[in-house]
Amino acid sequence: MAKAKQPEGEIYYPSQQIIEQARLKDWDALAKFASKNLEEFWAKEASELDWYKPWDKVLDDSNKPFYKWFTGAQVNIVHNALDRHQQTYRKNKLALVWVGEDNSVRTYSYYALNREVSQFANVLRAMGLKKGDRVTIYMPRIPEIVIAMLACAKIGAIHSVVYGGFSVDSLQGRIDDSQSRMVITADGGFMNGKIVELKKTVDEALKRCPSVETVVMVQRTKHQVRMEPGRDYYYHELIKLPIANGKCATEIMDSEDPLYILYTSGTTGKPKAILHTHGGYMVGVYSTLKYVFDLNDTDRWWCAADPGWVTGHSYIVYGPLIMGATSFMYEGAPTYPYPDRWWALIEKYGITVFYTAPTAIRGLMRFGELWPRKHDLSSLRLLGSVGEPINPEAWKWYHRVIGNEKCPIMDTWWQTETGMFMITPTPVVPLKPGSGTRPFFGQEAEIVDEAGKPVPDGEEGYLVLNRPWPAMLRTVYNDPERYVQQYWSKYPGKYTTGDSAKRDKDGYFWIIGRVDDVIKISGYRLGTAEIESALVSHPAVAEAAVIGIPHEVKGSVIYAYCLLRSGYQATPELPDELKQHVATHLGPIGKPEQVTFVDKLPKTRSGKIMRRVLKARALGLSEGDISTLEE
Ligand code: WTA
Repeated sequence: MAKAKQPEGEIYYPSQQIIEQARLKDWDALAKFASKNLEEFWAKEASELDWYKPWDKVLDDSNKPFYKWFTGAQVNIVHNALDRHQQTYRKNKLALVWVGEDNSVRTYSYYALNREVSQFANVLRAMGLKKGDRVTIYMPRIPEIVIAMLACAKIGAIHSVVYGGFSVDSLQGRIDDSQSRMVITADGGFMNGKIVELKKTVDEALKRCPSVETVVMVQRTKHQVRMEPGRDYYYHELIKLPIANGKCATEIMDSEDPLYILYTSGTTGKPKAILHTHGGYMVGVYSTLKYVFDLNDTDRWWCAADPGWVTGHSYIVYGPLIMGATSFMYEGAPTYPYPDRWWALIEKYGITVFYTAPTAIRGLMRFGELWPRKHDLSSLRLLGSVGEPINPEAWKWYHRVIGNEKCPIMDTWWQTETGMFMITPTPVVPLKPGSGTRPFFGQEAEIVDEAGKPVPDGEEGYLVLNRPWPAMLRTVYNDPERYVQQYWSKYPGKYTTGDSAKRDKDGYFWIIGRVDDVIKISGYRLGTAEIESALVSHPAVAEAAVIGIPHEVKGSVIYAYCLLRSGYQATPELPDELKQHVATHLGPIGKPEQVTFVDKLPKTRSGKIMRRVLKARALGLSEGDISTLEE
């Protein structure tokens, strides 16, 4: 790249070999071009993919902030992920290599994956599902979750994947809000040597979900589960039916037709359903994966996230398949049976590009270098990080011990809402540990103060995005007002990310963390409201407030403050009972680390809980401006 101005500080430069291998050598030139010619840049990216009918307009911004991309075009993301590869050598290339926690192995070529997706899509159609219907997918990390998502998209149904680590209340709320007609699940999955009983949770949730007509269940663990006659069907039986043949026409969709909704936590209230579309989302995930992780035919890509989160949607399922890449997927826990499970898999399967979260790196770091050193990790050429800020210490360990000092780390900042990487390096960009470097091509990020005025470099402020991008959320499903209010009203014309950050004088961005009521626990995104409502559903709790407190491995942990109902005593057992209650209702990730009973919660005069004050107290810091605190 152009050596005009060298960044300052502790810099990791890419090796000559990395630069030679990289698809894109001149980052600055493309960044400059895209910034001046936003639509032209994205049109060129889009033209590398197949469309049934080309677009009339690249970007339609006539009704801001309801931006539209590639309007007038017809497409289906599955056509690009599967159909088009059937006409090329990729038909016989591995699309997916999967390993179960119990060491079972399954592989799918592009041909085999397309065949099974078509079979299942035929089943879904025969069951009466059509374009626009919602389907909730609640599954472990097994190939069928990928197949289920693709089969839905193929027939134009909108999938709503609920992470398998969520429990009854979260699942029920999401099924109900989306009015799903079907739930696709599994009897269970293996995690840490135990069975996670998914079907049992589905049965519980469906007691309060009248919209669901059918449940399709994959047998994974084969333990005894209840099957409700007339409602529940076995996946393996359905795909043996004559209707489930291996040919199925892909539904022709408009570019702006919904592809999926994905629930995520935001400021207060219920989780909201972020809506992504076929056309723009497809172009965004393709282009980002291509430039950032630079996948080639010789690569074996492992995104160690769960398909139930956006990282899995964009970079396990859609992105890699659109690229025609070979993906690796592992069902279980990184430390089962020993803390070298991941490293052993990298060695055995020859992983070349590995993408995970800082919390996982910090967690594995604790076990020491000997575990990774037992394995030959020389197949790796690039590493990635996502989900929360990576502390320089973890970055350097990852770089030195896992990447053997030769693999650049792509620290990608993005969100469920953005659908694709927004602030990220590419392999040729000089890196600073802990910074996601600069905005992706065509994007312009900015740090502003409360009033929306840009703050000087080096100062902390709110991170906003100034340009629309193709994979951007289109709306909050069934709640367009919330879309406008939450993302576009604080600073007109700018997208509010909910994060605070700094920019240094080299233009590198440093994410600090959320400034709203979102807590990132081990990289998982939860809202304070969700955890609080799980707490108050316990008979002893009248009111609850939760905050995130920094934690060495998990990034944050939850501290809960509860006000008891009259007649209830703060017994020594009650904190544990409440922790368990949250785990049962919301999911283990929401389980508070600490529960404290209080007589009063700090509130503003208008009755809003001042979590900031609780946090300051918990950390022993000054309570700051408490002029709005009620008497
Ligand atoms: C945080 C995950 C620092 C951030 C893809 C963002 C990050 C939230 C990074 C979105 C990163 C994600 N560095 N922080 N590389 N990536 N975040 O919707 O706070 O689960 O707003 O999407 O994660 O979380 P979400």
